[in-house]
This record gives sequence, structure tokens and C-alpha cells, in this order.
Amino acid sequence: MKRKVLSVLLSAALAATLMTGCGQATSEPAAEAAPAEEAAPAEEAAPAEEAAADELIVVGYAQVGAESDWRTANTESFKTEFVEANGYKLIFDDAQQKQENQIKAIRSFIQQEVDYIVLAPVVETGWDTVLQEAKEAGIPVILSDRMVDVADDSLYECWVGGNFVKEGEDAAGWLSEYLTAQGRADEEINIVTLQGTIGASAQVGRTEGFASKMADTWTMLDMQTGEFTQSKGQEVMESFLKQYDDIDVVVAENDNMAFGAIDAIKAAGKTCGPEGDIIIISFDAVKAAFESMIAGDMNVSVECNPLHGPRVSEIIQTLESGGTVDKVMYVDEGVFPAETAADTIGSRAY
Ligand code: AHR
Repeated sequence: MKRKVLSVLLSAALAATLMTGCGQATSEPAAEAAPAEEAAPAEEAAPAEEAAADELIVVGYAQVGAESDWRTANTESFKTEFVEANGYKLIFDDAQQKQENQIKAIRSFIQQEVDYIVLAPVVETGWDTVLQEAKEAGIPVILSDRMVDVADDSLYECWVGGNFVKEGEDAAGWLSEYLTAQGRADEEINIVTLQGTIGASAQVGRTEGFASKMADTWTMLDMQTGEFTQSKGQEVMESFLKQYDDIDVVVAENDNMAFGAIDAIKAAGKTCGPEGDIIIISFDAVKAAFESMIAGDMNVSVECNPLHGPRVSEIIQTLESGGTVDKVMYVDEGVFPAETAADTIGSRAY
């Protein structure tokens, strides 16, 4: 680590940021961020800025990509929090949903001798070697959003994110209550699932959580990945609609795939949402999902909170002051059904 000085002023600025709440989501696309190779190393700062730059905590963030509204809000949360005014220099890398790009970014962060590495891993496996390299370089790794599956958990400092298994269970719990309220509890229900990127914690957890709460009268007709993107979600839903003419429920493992599915359903001349033929269950609860619910297209979105910037910052401040943090930190999340959407949309931060 190159630097260990953080002024009282900077801590006060950070505290003020935390007190005013999490980062604000904007529509700036994450894809505009410079890749790791292009990011200027701290050492290249102009001489006049060098003294101040030496006091900044340098954080490399290996981001998944810009595949969804959720991801855009997550990127914005980091870019808003990890600014010079809060005592940080952020080196941001967009991996375009490719693990090999994230591995390259981590190696570049190690070369640049960053103080902390933050990783939102695309998938859970395949991290042992590069995280061992970070450990040997003495750089703490903080996992955010998704988890890694490594043999030695000392390869990372801690993890903060949503409880994906619980999100899946909550989605199935909502469906069970909804069908009961509709007098359909004993009906045979056919479900298809648009899965996220296979092997990503958000996919693994949501699929597993939902499966664990399947009722005896429910049949999972099919599950296929839509890669967490709207276009792929639409494509997969089009193929489901061609194969199955009796779909009652679509479980989309994020809002953007649900938007794609809704487009496919409408294009096929079918209807969805509370008044339609097909029930749409989604995850994330981004603002556009509330708009979709208000428009009558989506039934429910299970929240996955993306505003991890201030949370990771708080972890770093704790570590900087010699404190310890919990190994695993879950964020509180809710379930937002269509009937509450109009009242809630105004208070959504992303
Ligand atoms: O890991 C969180 C998931 O990743 C979100 O549900 C999804 O929108 C994003 O791409």
C-alpha cells in the first residue's frame, strides 16, 4: 500500500455523504468508463496534484458490465461515492460481462499498487489464482454484489450484497399468496424462467430459492439464460412462446429480461400483468419496473439493492481505522407488488 494518511476533513466529508443516504442513480451509461488499460495510474498525476493524490485511497473497481438498469445504478453509486472530496481515487473497469476482462483488470490494479480492490464477480468460480496474487501483493479485496467460490476465504476481506436465495424464496412466496388470493391455489400452474448469467450468484441464488418453494401444483416447463439483458430476455421468451402455448407465469431473474419478455408476449398477441394471461415476476425493483407495474404489464419485482458504493466506503473506513468487519454482510430488501407501485415509485432512489 502506498498511502495511509486520511485527513479529518475527508472523514467528515465521507460521514456527511453517508448521512445524506446512498448514491443517486443517474442514467449515465457505465460503458463510457475507461477500461483498466487506459486508466491513468496514480503515479502519472501532474506534480502539482501529487501531494493531494498521495493522500487519496486508491480503489480499483472491477465491475461486471453495463447489462442492466441495476448495474448502471450500481456503477453510479460507486462513481458518486469514490470521489476526491471523500478521500478517494477510483479506477473503474467495465468488464463487459467477461470474467477474463475482470481478471485482467485485477492484475492491472495490482500493478498500479491500488490500496483496495473491489470486485463484483461475473461468476462465482475461477478466482483462486488472481485473488492469491492480490493477497501476495498485500491488497485487500472487497467483494460487492456477487460472491466468489474459492477454497480459501482469506483471499477476500469481506462480501456485501443482496441475499439472492431469499430473493428467490420471496418471489415464490409472493406467487403462492397471489394465486391463493385469486382462488387459484389448486390450479396446475406452468412456469418458465429467464435465468441470469449462468454461474453468477444472482442466478444461482434466485433459481435455487424459487425452486425450494415450488408448490406441488406448479410445473417448471423450462429455464434458459437471458444473460441479464433485455434483448436476450426477449429472444428467449420468443422461443418459449413458440414451444409452449400454456405458460401461466414468467420468472425473469432481473427487470431488464422481464421488459424483453413483456415485449415478446405482446408481439405474440398475448397479455400479461395483473389483468393479463401471464403473470410476470421479476427481480431488482428498478424505477422502470415500477413504471411497468403502473402500466399494468408486470405483477411484482423483488428488490435487489444496487447502492453499494457508500457501504463499501464504510467498510474501507473501518479497515483504515484498524477495525474489523463482518465477513458476510446482507443488505435489507423488499418485495414490491403492482398494487403498491404508484405509491412507492416516488421514493425509489434507482
Ligand atoms: O448481481 C445483481 C444482478 O446483476 C441484478 O439482478 C442484475 O440486474 C444485474 O445484472
